[in-house]
Amino acid sequence: MSGSEREYDVVVWGATGVAGRFVSEYLTEQYTPEDLSLAVGGRDPERLESVATDLTRRSDAWGDVPVVVGDATDPESLRALAGNTRVVCTTVGPYTSYGTPLVEACIEMGTDYCDLTGEINWVRETIDRFHDAAVDAETRIVHSCGFDSVPADLGTLLLQSYAVAQFDTPCETVRIYLEGGSGGVSGGTLASFAELFEAAETDPLVQETLRNPYSLAPPGERSGVDPGEQRLPRNDSLRGSWTAPSPMAAVNERVIRRSNALLGYPWGREFRCTEVVTTGDGPTGAAIAGAITGGLGLFNTAMSVGPLRSGLRRYVFPEPGEGPTREEAENGSFKIRLLGRGMATDGPFTVDGEFSADRDPGYGATARMLGEAALCLANDDVETPFDGGILTPASGIGLPLVEKLRSVGFTITVNDAEAT
Ligand SMILES: NC(=O)c1ccc[n+]([C@@H]2O[C@H](COP(=O)([O-])OP(=O)(O)OC[C@H]3O[C@@H](n4cnc5c(N)ncnc54)[C@H](OP(=O)(O)O)[C@@H]3O)[C@@H](O)[C@H]2O)c1
Repeated sequence: MSGSEREYDVVVWGATGVAGRFVSEYLTEQYTPEDLSLAVGGRDPERLESVATDLTRRSDAWGDVPVVVGDATDPESLRALAGNTRVVCTTVGPYTSYGTPLVEACIEMGTDYCDLTGEINWVRETIDRFHDAAVDAETRIVHSCGFDSVPADLGTLLLQSYAVAQFDTPCETVRIYLEGGSGGVSGGTLASFAELFEAAETDPLVQETLRNPYSLAPPGERSGVDPGEQRLPRNDSLRGSWTAPSPMAAVNERVIRRSNALLGYPWGREFRCTEVVTTGDGPTGAAIAGAITGGLGLFNTAMSVGPLRSGLRRYVFPEPGEGPTREEAENGSFKIRLLGRGMATDGPFTVDGEFSADRDPGYGATARMLGEAALCLANDDVETPFDGGILTPASGIGLPLVEKLRSVGFTITVNDAEAT
């Protein structure tokens, strides 16, 4: 990678925050300066120097990690940052507050970009405002390269590629099951979540984005047959288990539908996807599904009411900058199962996939997903018809990221299931 005309291959922007620090640690522990020209960026020079010193202390190979200072509200500093690197890998959030000037700077400087956003209102804004400019500038802006939405989006791409190779036709439906896991949450993530609810209170466009299952599709393509998120407990015959709504479905399902639309509907215009939480069978499974549904409903209601949301932010949520420790991030886990159903010429088929890792999904595993996404972009190790646009993991990077994640310990498989 080194030897390009830009000084850095990747700048981790937001390296003093919880997620940014984990990404920086991952990249300096996994790679050497011979593999990768890396810098860490943010707004506070002293804290950045302390992060850089800590990184060099952790890894013998890195005698020095350069720092880049700027501010998310200072476009000139963002242009300087973007002009000096091949890829900006940003964890500066909430993205609704801080993300737009950086996207603009990257497009202006022709610098590829990846982030961790789950703020679909902001993704919609960047699509509407910047997609055409990013296409013209041949700049890949790849949103949602963490736990939202890499496993769901790339898992679906993998299942569909397998179905087409095996059965000559894609799955008509893909159901994504959160089978289990453990992990923490940071103040930055909860602040981003709160930002979305705040915007939804007053902004009709945000309300439409949350209501319409196709709201992240390109303009003119924002309708279809898929009714969107599962909202109630359901006994799922395909999985053989009770299921509850997933808190990430609103993001992940829309990202998958955008991938399908951008790629030119390789999975058909009638394609449906749903993400749910698996809770087990029998009365216990039903009770857990009911409890999760009720808990999620209560949380969403509380977040929708301004004074309750402010109270949660003030007295309950951790502050931005607080989050899981390194030990916690390395010790969590997650397992996602994907089942796809389709109709081949000789009858129905089912394809069965898994996407899992032995690390906290939002932090330890996310650091690897985002770090490897940035490297795929920097190395041009992508399998996509697009060299620019506001893109998803599947449409902006594609299956090479699956290979990279397998090579760093993720279990990502796909097989035929018994035909039913
Ligand atoms: N999709 C996923 O799976 C996933 C997982 C984890 C996180 N996330 C998302 O990632 C984002 C970051 O989360 P986090 O927990 O790491 O948050 P955090 O700890 O609060 O970190 C935010 C970072 O942004 C920096 N920042 C804030 N204002 C800035 C400004 N004006 N200019 C430059 N930098 C600025 C902070 O710098 P200071 O240190 O100087 O304050 C810090 O480095 C959130 O939006 C969260 O939702 C997503």
